[in-house]
Amino acid sequence: MSDYKEKFEKMRIAGKLAAQTLDMLTDNIKEGVSTDHIDKLGYEFIKDNGGYSAPLFYRGFKKSLCTSLNHVVCHGIPSKERILKDGDALNVDVTAIVNEHYGDTSRMFSIGKPNVKSKKLIEITYEAMWKGIEAVKPGNSTGDIGAAIQNFAENQGYSVVRDFCGHGIGQRFHTAPNILHYGQEKHGTKLIEGMFFTIEPMINLGKKDILILDDGWTAVTRDKKLSSQYEHTIGVTKTGYEVFTISEKEKKGGRVFSC
Ligand code: MF3
Ligand code: CO
Ligand code: CO
Repeated sequence: MSDYKEKFEKMRIAGKLAAQTLDMLTDNIKEGVSTDHIDKLGYEFIKDNGGYSAPLFYRGFKKSLCTSLNHVVCHGIPSKERILKDGDALNVDVTAIVNEHYGDTSRMFSIGKPNVKSKKLIEITYEAMWKGIEAVKPGNSTGDIGAAIQNFAENQGYSVVRDFCGHGIGQRFHTAPNILHYGQEKHGTKLIEGMFFTIEPMINLGKKDILILDDGWTAVTRDKKLSSQYEHTIGVTKTGYEVFTISEKEKKGGRVFSC
């Protein structure tokens, strides 16, 4: 097996565990549960399946995954005090390390019954991520990904967060290239077969501006309006892309995922 195929295989394994963790968490994410409980379940599941949670002790982060609620844009810290309630919109972001390779993925969860605005924002964010993924093929550039996401989200009247981006990944958590979720077609870094990176747009109901809270991690919208995010880990193939973090549950959702 060539080195290239071996690397893809390792990314598949790490990506699959991260995705399975989100699948496992799905039934546990409900009213009355604390975000810390979700963290504990994620940590145990990854450990029991031969992996390690990348966020734990990453740059001083003290939990195993991120839980970003409502107007939290990203990097929300799980807490015993924060109990999920009806109408909450939660992003859970899981990164698993297996065999020194990283799989990074996040999804939105609606607690109880989502209101119309929240439901629409979440759907648009998911679709925006896929518009970005579909722009991945050798010869295209990172700007094609950003432009696809930005055009789609802004045409629907939403804003794209500028302060965080997707990132190269593989045997390290965050590497080059930066994958901006906005930009211009044909700009940025050229995509080459064998590259690994994440696409993880954060889309806001209101303005794009954010603030970091005093804990040094939690990013929130300045206008306190809802924010939503999805993330997948992708590899560039000869003709397009492979998504390493697709789960059984997501596949069953009916979407066709091509390579
Ligand atoms: N998983 C996040 C990402 O998508 C990074 C989380 S870093 C942490 O890049 F330390 F906050 F966990
Ligand atoms: Co990421
Ligand atoms: Co992530």
